Amino acid sequence: MGNFKVKDHYFNKAKNENFLARSIYKLEEIDEKYRILKPGMKVVDLGYYPGSWIQYTSKVIGEQGQVVGIDIQEVNKKVTGLKNVRVYQKDIFDIQDLSQLGVEEAFDAVLSDMAPSTTGIKSLDQDRSLNLVESVFGLLPRFLKPGGNFVIKVFDSQSAQNYLKAQKSLFNEFHYLKPKSTRSVSKEFFVIGKNFKA
Ligand SMILES: C[S@@+](CC[C@H](N)C(=O)[O-])C[C@H]1O[C@@H](n2cnc3c(N)ncnc32)[C@H](O)[C@@H]1O
Repeated sequence: MGNFKVKDHYFNKAKNENFLARSIYKLEEIDEKYRILKPGMKVVDLGYYPGSWIQYTSKVIGEQGQVVGIDIQEVNKKVTGLKNVRVYQKDIFDIQDLSQLGVEEAFDAVLSDMAPSTTGIKSLDQDRSLNLVESVFGLLPRFLKPGGNFVIKVFDSQSAQNYLKAQKSLFNEFHYLKPKSTRSVSKEFFVIGKNFKA
């Protein structure tokens, strides 16, 4: 019951505030707490669709900044009108180089709210989720500047915990957060890395 209330509250709030998804409030909470995004930053948003994180990021980074989004879904025209936004229909597993995103320099921040489509088979869903997480960590040496910031959604499992523990030393600060707007039954949480070590 409480969970449905939470869902309705954030869903309605997003609708009233013209955000494309309730996920906006997760990024907002993370950013307010850990100061991930700043004006002028170049940011990549992996699994951006429908685009509420892009809407939020576009505003914070301002005219001097740029946000590039990718998703397997067809490009959402609702975000292509924003001046500092570029989006591509691409699968993360096909991305190796910055040039595929039309940029030359690594990003100041890498964001990933990606989630695989779930099957209901717990071990399979956990494996798929961890595959996504591993593919993003694999891109960091090429995609994230030294000193850069990182946010990624993770579905909790023992193997995810073990994997994350081994990645901790990549950042000066490494935090775990379950945002208030996350449904209480959800197994998802966010990992926040600050100050990427080269
Ligand atoms: C929870 S949604 C993102 C919501 C978004 N942050 C927002 O605020 O609107 C997760 C997205 O991850 C995308 N995704 C899942 N697997 C992907 C992959 N292999 N490559 C790119 N995107 C992927 C899905 O298509 C989906 O749109």
